[in-house]
Amino acid sequence: MNARILLVDDDRALLDALPEALRLRMDGIQIDTSETAVDALERIKQTDYDAIVSDVKMPGMDGLALLHEIRELRPTTPTLMITGHGERELAVQALRGGAYDFVQKPIDRDYFVASLERAIQLRTLDRKVEQQRLALERHARVLEHVDDGVFLVDDDGVIQHWNPAAQAITGIAPERALGRPAEATLPGWDAVAPVIPIAAAPGPGSLEAKVIPLDLDGRELWISISGVTFSDGIVYAFRSLTEERALDELKGEFIATVSHELRTPLAAIYGSAQTLLREDIELGEPDKKRLLDVIAHESERLGRIADDILFANKLDSGQFALGEKGVDLRVLARDVVEEMRACFVARTDISIELAAPDTLESVAGDPDRLRQVFINLIDNAVKYSPEGGRVELAIAPRDGGIRIAVRDEGIGIAPLEQRRIFGKFYRVDPELARGVGGTGLGLYICRELVRRMGGRLSVSSEEGKGSIFIVDLPVQTAGGAERGAAVAQTA
Ligand SMILES: Nc1ncnc2c1ncn2[C@@H]1O[C@H](COP(=O)(O)OP(=O)(O)OP(=O)(O)O)[C@@H](O)[C@H]1O
Ligand SMILES: [Mg+2]
Repeated sequence: MNARILLVDDDRALLDALPEALRLRMDGIQIDTSETAVDALERIKQTDYDAIVSDVKMPGMDGLALLHEIRELRPTTPTLMITGHGERELAVQALRGGAYDFVQKPIDRDYFVASLERAIQLRTLDRKVEQQRLALERHARVLEHVDDGVFLVDDDGVIQHWNPAAQAITGIAPERALGRPAEATLPGWDAVAPVIPIAAAPGPGSLEAKVIPLDLDGRELWISISGVTFSDGIVYAFRSLTEERALDELKGEFIATVSHELRTPLAAIYGSAQTLLREDIELGEPDKKRLLDVIAHESERLGRIADDILFANKLDSGQFALGEKGVDLRVLARDVVEEMRACFVARTDISIELAAPDTLESVAGDPDRLRQVFINLIDNAVKYSPEGGRVELAIAPRDGGIRIAVRDEGIGIAPLEQRRIFGKFYRVDPELARGVGGTGLGLYICRELVRRMGGRLSVSSEEGKGSIFIVDLPVQTAGGAERGAAVAQTA
């Protein structure tokens, strides 16, 4: 037995004799002795004994007072009290005070050893339980820090654990999960649970996670989830795939959009070419010219779509460098506005205006790319103004920079969509219910370009009233123009 005990008694003779007797009977036991309660307390503070044996009657602080202190200091250390013969009253008091057991003088050594052994065993068990408790606590703490959502569903289908990641991913607080049936917390759970792969043990070779949708407060959450059986339930681990899913969906939409966008000009080109090729009808020069115009125009449009796709890809892959020089936005804006007016001459319901101050500081940027940004914004402003109206490009200095605002009186953009429209391939109306086409790349490209010029592109809009797209650019700093050596590589 690898135990250490403390023996407290003011009787020197007993302190000499008892340890000897104990050592003979209890192999490997280590015994410290104290003649006074005060000295004993000092030792107890230093050492976590497996058991303490104390006389009840001692001068100064007596055994009961010492017991009280021990209970405070070391509440789990079993303490045996030695009482005088016939002092039943004291023995009862000791037990009430939390003593583990008592022995009467003269000491019955067999009983004493047996009791002490039990006390030491108890203490050892106690320590083990404590260690396990700490280990469990540690495990629980580890679970609090994993990235994956983890929850335990017991055999009755009730959620018994819900870690912070589970809360973060689902938005469901532990109070709404713990102690409740899984189906109540995760609507649809009963239907999806049977398809979730459940392994008998964790580790390599465990089953591949399943991707399932959960319907949480009206929003769909896609998770990848798997489980491992546990003694009284199943531990599930999951992560959110909603963003990846959304991206996949976006890709799908993009393909639909692009193929629609490609098919429309292709159909026009094909139809015109077929007509030109027909031998059974005689076409006059004006008709031929019109058909060829269609072919040229639509081919150009196809080229533009392909360019946009390639360009967005180039922006993404970082193979793109912007030129930088001092740009006079007033000149640039005038050119762009003239060009767009020419482009949209057929839209007699639209007027494109320019508002610029007499003087303006230069901005540091890539003039070709800035031009691309303004064209895209004005193109949108006209496209999304089916009822016509005024489109205005306004330039003004602001907060040490320059603000360019493209304002329209068109259909406007719902608040929820205002952040998304800058996403790649995102279109508010992918089914073209409004009959206006596009690839959804325009604003993505604009925002990326403006960002790379140290600026910011934002929108404010009201549905049915119109939109304002705002580009904020920093003015050129002294010496900025010299850095214009880097030329855009756009081939
Ligand atoms: N001025 C605007 N008014 C209303 N909605 C707009 C406006 N500008 C953009 N949007 C919305 O934002 C979406 C994204 O615009 P974006 O310019 O990126 O793509 P697109 O115009 O559809 O295609 P393209 O790549 O040909 O420009 C549009 O589909 C449209 O729904
Ligand atoms: Mg556009």
